[in-house]
Amino acid sequence: KKSKVDLSRSGILAPPGSNPDRDVIFVLGGPGSGKGTQCSRLVADFPGVVHLSAGDLLRAHTKSGTPDGDAVAGMISQGQIVPSSVTIRLLEAAMAQAASETAKKAGGEAAERSGREASSKHRFLVDGFPRNDENRAAYEALTGSDPALVLFFDCPEAVMRRRLLGRGQGRTDDNDETIAKRFRVFVESSVPVVEYYEKKGKVAKIDADRDPEKVYADVKRVFASRTGAAAKQ
Ligand code: ADP
Ligand code: C5P
Ligand code: MG
Repeated sequence: KKSKVDLSRSGILAPPGSNPDRDVIFVLGGPGSGKGTQCSRLVADFPGVVHLSAGDLLRAHTKSGTPDGDAVAGMISQGQIVPSSVTIRLLEAAMAQAASETAKKAGGEAAERSGREASSKHRFLVDGFPRNDENRAAYEALTGSDPALVLFFDCPEAVMRRRLLGRGQGRTDDNDETIAKRFRVFVESSVPVVEYYEKKGKVAKIDADRDPEKVYADVKRVFASRTGAAAKQ
């Protein structure tokens, strides 16, 4: 049975990485640090911002009914990191789809009001990727580039644990046992990725242990100043 997700290469992440029509922003932080919550707010405030959660894409892929999807489901329930060959293809497909939707919209607008150029810059918030060195190296090999920015949500484990147990989305991995495994994977595999980009001056660290509005005030300011994006009026 074929996957519902189109896994053919779209080329949207292919080199050269210096495509002026798009920026990639990595959104990293431990499980429950508030990545998804803050990304939604950026999408609401900034035109051209697209939120792509690697975890959400992988969870959707588990519903494909393919052996590949079943393998991903098993890895998620154990808090393990899925190989980049799967995750990057899902990300690429989602990016290409978002870009084509915008192109369609811009085409329609141009037809209505000719002479007015539609801005087509995309800023992709890649949430929860790269999760380990293998993810990161694969992205680099494919794009030949670094992200424009890494937003890193810093939050104590006790706070993240409480949030995850209260999330209430029926996820197979929001239970005490898997949460402990995810924290271990985060410390051992994901923190080194943040440190790698820190050395390159790419990381903006946000104190995520505050109420969402306070966190977002920092996120919005840093995002605007580091990407040059202008918020909607
Ligand atoms: P992540 O995507 O990093 O795993 P989420 O955005 O899904 O995290 O947030 C995890 C849970 O914590 C959700 O139930 C969310 O509503 C809640 N949450 C997010 N940010 C905050 C915050 N700053 N304070 C309290 N709860 C939060
Ligand atoms: O980011 P999120 O908490 O939604 O991720 C849930 C799970 O999805 C992770 O614990 C992991 O099993 C999987 N995942 C992955 N590789 C990524 C992102 C998420 O394997 N880059
Ligand atoms: Mg999330």
